[in-house]
Amino acid sequence: MKTLVTNGTVVTASDSYRGDVLIEDGKVSAIGVSLSPDADRTIDASGKYVLPGGIDVHTHLDMPFGGTTSADDFESGTIAAAHGGTTSIVDFAIQYKGQTLRQAWEAWMKKAQGKAAIDYGFHMIITDLPDTVEQEMDAMVAEGVTSFKLFMAYRGVLMLDDGAIFRALSRTGGNGGTICMHAENGDVIEVLVRRALAEGRTAPKYHALTRPARAEAEATYRAICLAEMAGVPVYIVHLSAAEALEKVTEARDRGLPAYAETCPQYLFLSYANYEEPGFEGAKYVMSPPLRAQGNEEKLWRGLSGNDLAAVSTDHCPFCMKEQKELGKNDFSKIPNGAPGIETRMHLMHDGGVRKGRISLNRFVELTSTSPAKIFGLFPRKGTIAPGSDADIVIFDPEKKHTISAKTHHMKVDYNPYEGREVTGRVETVLSRGKVIIESGKFTGKAGAGEFLKRKPRSA
Ligand code: URP
Ligand code: ZN
Ligand code: ZN
Repeated sequence: MKTLVTNGTVVTASDSYRGDVLIEDGKVSAIGVSLSPDADRTIDASGKYVLPGGIDVHTHLDMPFGGTTSADDFESGTIAAAHGGTTSIVDFAIQYKGQTLRQAWEAWMKKAQGKAAIDYGFHMIITDLPDTVEQEMDAMVAEGVTSFKLFMAYRGVLMLDDGAIFRALSRTGGNGGTICMHAENGDVIEVLVRRALAEGRTAPKYHALTRPARAEAEATYRAICLAEMAGVPVYIVHLSAAEALEKVTEARDRGLPAYAETCPQYLFLSYANYEEPGFEGAKYVMSPPLRAQGNEEKLWRGLSGNDLAAVSTDHCPFCMKEQKELGKNDFSKIPNGAPGIETRMHLMHDGGVRKGRISLNRFVELTSTSPAKIFGLFPRKGTIAPGSDADIVIFDPEKKHTISAKTHHMKVDYNPYEGREVTGRVETVLSRGKVIIESGKFTGKAGAGEFLKRKPRSA
């Protein structure tokens, strides 16, 4: 099967040029000017961008959390991702206390197999680290589960102490894995939450008011220090606060391999959303929380340099009805997380590229190339080059649309960006050469996604 994408503007992290892309057997086989093979299918991309498929390295599909389960499973979540121009995800498997890492990985593979419509990999959340599990980290890296998320918050559920975090970090020095850190000071937050509830402060906004930016900055600094002592890189997930970014910047200025991602919610929403009337603020209950207006400009600056290396979504959707409602009378019972797998590319193009905050090439780098490089998928994923998987998005930079829960494909009953008009729209999406989105319709197949065995950092 030969497919030719003609006349588009091919955009990578480094270049933008008019060119034709030839696809054979799911891979890019040639890029040139006026290619004229006897293709089975020709897609005219005149006036459009031809982008590498988006890579979202932070999603939570079908994840039990906060007494319920995230609303998108691997089928609905990956189809929504495809609509939004994302062709690969790295989701999180969770090792519960007493489990081996392999048991956790197998459980999450079962959730994805036969359902995922795009390619998927896994990070492993470690919640329990006896010596046997520490040793097992090497086997996971060998299986292609090359990154581990550790929590500095949620004591008794997900949190590890500093000793365990240090041991896990040290282990990656030998096995080439990468530690992803949820950096918030969980013990301080717990005290603040208890105090707020004792004073009768139960509304959603107290979720944010009990998780101060300083608690994120402190944990970010501590994570970096622990990684420095272990002599390994560290990747801070869902960085939200400018104070935390300062810690990453300081570390990078000292030459340390400290990396961080942020997410669109921290760029496009703010604390003010928690003040929406009634229980509406619950839509934005996530951790870390949204920050004060003005914080986002500092994050944009971090993105335009490289102190923030990637934009992921932390897609963790819970419906208002029956799920967020669990915390109607107590903000600490609102399941943490928000939807975003479908809106990332559109928001980053509109709010980043069109508003002049980042270049078109940087947009590709942040949403595809850097995540692929950091998490062992490059150059198979994350670029358009001969030999790469033909994960391609044809993107109309002028087409406008309005984001809404009425039209999105995520299985959640609200959209945090409801009513926002964006310019630029995903038109056609190819996953390993197969058209999976055509004129806004899903034409792929649930189960067609393949497990991504990722490379360790040393490779
Ligand atoms: O609130 C959030 N972020 N929910 C998902 C779990 C996590 O910490 O990433
Ligand atoms: Zn987290
Ligand atoms: Zn997350």
